[in-house]
Amino acid sequence: MYTDTVAGNGGDFIIQGDVCWSAGPHTLEIKPDSFLVCKGGKSAGVFEQLPQQYANLPLSCYRGRLVIPGLVDLHTHAPQFVYRGLGMDMELLDWLTSHAFPEEVKYHDLAYAGKAYHFFVEHLKHGPNTRILVYATIHVPATLLLMNMLEESGLVSMVGKINMDRNCPDGLREESAAASLSATREWLEAYAARQDRYVNTKPILTPRFIPSCSDDLLRGLGAMRHELKLPVQSHLSENRKEVEWVRKLYPASEGYGAVYREFDLLGSAPPQEAAPTVMAHCVWSDEREINLLAERRVFAAHCPQSNANLASGIAPVRRLLNAGVPVGLGSDVAGGTNCSIFRAMSDAIQVSKLRRTVLNVDEKPLSLEESFYLGTAGGGAFFGKAGMGYSGSFEPGADFDALVINDNTLAAPFNLSIRDRLEQAINIYDNHHIEAKYVRGRLIS
Ligand code: GUN
Ligand code: FE
Repeated sequence: MYTDTVAGNGGDFIIQGDVCWSAGPHTLEIKPDSFLVCKGGKSAGVFEQLPQQYANLPLSCYRGRLVIPGLVDLHTHAPQFVYRGLGMDMELLDWLTSHAFPEEVKYHDLAYAGKAYHFFVEHLKHGPNTRILVYATIHVPATLLLMNMLEESGLVSMVGKINMDRNCPDGLREESAAASLSATREWLEAYAARQDRYVNTKPILTPRFIPSCSDDLLRGLGAMRHELKLPVQSHLSENRKEVEWVRKLYPASEGYGAVYREFDLLGSAPPQEAAPTVMAHCVWSDEREINLLAERRVFAAHCPQSNANLASGIAPVRRLLNAGVPVGLGSDVAGGTNCSIFRAMSDAIQVSKLRRTVLNVDEKPLSLEESFYLGTAGGGAFFGKAGMGYSGSFEPGADFDALVINDNTLAAPFNLSIRDRLEQAINIYDNHHIEAKYVRGRLIS
């Protein structure tokens, strides 16, 4: 039970419970009935016995509860939240035309955007994700409004005003590459002018995907990311028809990822590391594309629920990991129906088993430990690379993003290990299991 109203209000404090986090991609660190110390919004470590130096800090006692890092959503679409669950009998390109695009047109109307984004942000506040990478729409005022609302919520986010100037309906198609680039600058200038109010919210460049951006627009964004040192998010090799479309648009290129590379929108090779890039999906990335992602340190956002809903396929996560690509999980709402990254963890394991059975490939399915890692530290590393502090771990120095999960309602007539309680919490998760949620040391719900 939360017992101290001071603890978690941004100061230094301690929480006590059954603490569990990823020590690495394959290993859980488990500390029963231990003390997790927060100093200045960061973890100062987990202790079985409380060190004397912390004895005077306020303590919130959550004995018997699971205490785990906040979850990280590396790919979602804020304006698609309110119609999630619709059009789920369609494939990607038809669904974009019939559902995503007509809905996003409405965000020209700031009052509509305010109502819809309110539902999105409120839902997220009470869910398990503490950090998100999010697409807004092409509209500058609505994107700024979303940033304000996310900042207010206490969540950590990177938000993108979308760029798109071809192959989309009137009302969503920016007039030209120049108009799209100039609207992007207007958005970034408005953000910079009020930067003091944004502690947890940062911009990220967001070309929607290759088919919706002209060469001039892609080139301009490639230059802008270096000039302004901005991270980039986009979609890559999601669905067969989309991949075929890109092949037709760029027959001379080696592949979809190579097109981003040609416009300098695909990560960077060390030692000149630029702000990071994340590509959602990578379902149809072949060996050459996977190696390109690894070479250029591009993060892959694995979105298993969306890939199933839109019949995109099953991403080759084991191959991405073996090649050294940094991987996190994404909800991809509203391709995905659920915002919770617990759901993505559960789905990631499920589809990795299906991949082996259905495709008859010799790839080891994901373990619970691996999937938990992807949804916490795996995605949390992106924020670290983007200069926002890393999360997903309780090692000293990590941002203090923590969830207190009350799993007593899952009780059975036997005692489970902490590892097995975590597995049940992931697979049978429901928002009402969250007893407390801390982001950067602040109690936000
Ligand atoms: N590719 C381009 N736009 C989108 C989108 O809104 N959702 C998904 N899942 N894929 C996309
Ligand atoms: Fe998406």
